[in-house]
Amino acid sequence: MTQTTTAPTSIITPTSTVLEARGISKIYPSGESTVVALRDVSVGFEAGRITAIVGPSGSGKSTLLNLLAGFDIPSSGAVLHLGNDLKSMPETKLASYRLAHFGFVFQNYNLVSILSAQENVELPLTLAGVPRAKRSQIATDLLKRVSLDKRMTHYPNQLSGGEQQRVAIARALATNPSVLFADEPTGNLDSKTGRGILELLTEPMAESSNRTVILITHDMDVASRAHRIVNIRDGSLEG
Ligand SMILES: Nc1ncnc2c1ncn2[C@@H]1O[C@H](COP(=O)(O)OP(=O)(O)O)[C@@H](O)[C@H]1O
Ligand SMILES: [Mg+2]
Repeated sequence: MTQTTTAPTSIITPTSTVLEARGISKIYPSGESTVVALRDVSVGFEAGRITAIVGPSGSGKSTLLNLLAGFDIPSSGAVLHLGNDLKSMPETKLASYRLAHFGFVFQNYNLVSILSAQENVELPLTLAGVPRAKRSQIATDLLKRVSLDKRMTHYPNQLSGGEQQRVAIARALATNPSVLFADEPTGNLDSKTGRGILELLTEPMAESSNRTVILITHDMDVASRAHRIVNIRDGSLEG
């Protein structure tokens, strides 16, 4: 009798909660006093869904994203990815966990200036120990997908802002992450270039229906492309 084995990821249906914040708060020291950047936030993110986090400057959007992505630990409460509490992982394990499961796109692109576009995209794969030929194949495919196949050997300072962000998206997707985080990904771009970036972040996501996308923005036009909008104000979720 032949029986197919079910890989753990295949049991994630489009309505499964992949990532969850349970009552998280974040308090930063500020001189003699403290700043409550997030206050008792609970929110879940489902597979195959794009969520926009919207709020004014200083409302706690980046703080929330940094906690969801395991870059920082909540002062109280917990963040769970597929039921795994990020807080319970030692820093080295958390770093490799992030590498395996999460992808990141930032406002300032954060490319490595001494690496070519191709090498930047390969970087997370190099860190994950993926063999050279496979890395090269993945990077080539992804750079083609973001229409940069003619720019693979260019360095970040030889690329426009929009092109750099496309490299950053290709890099973020290289490990085929379960969650893609983007913090103001179009914040430094003119509106036409921004729209192109947004299409890349949203449309390929619909194809790989299991990927969760969490997009921070203060642009309602950007937010309107998401399946869901979460509003944040003064560190608390609204509505
Ligand atoms: N590392 C930090 N130390 C102290 N205060 C911080 C720090 N990071 C953010 N804050 C404060 O927390 C609040 C939320 O900031 P942030 O999450 O960056 O907001 P947003 O991304 O929505 O603009 C702000 O009042 C900010 O000044
Ligand atoms: Mg921010």
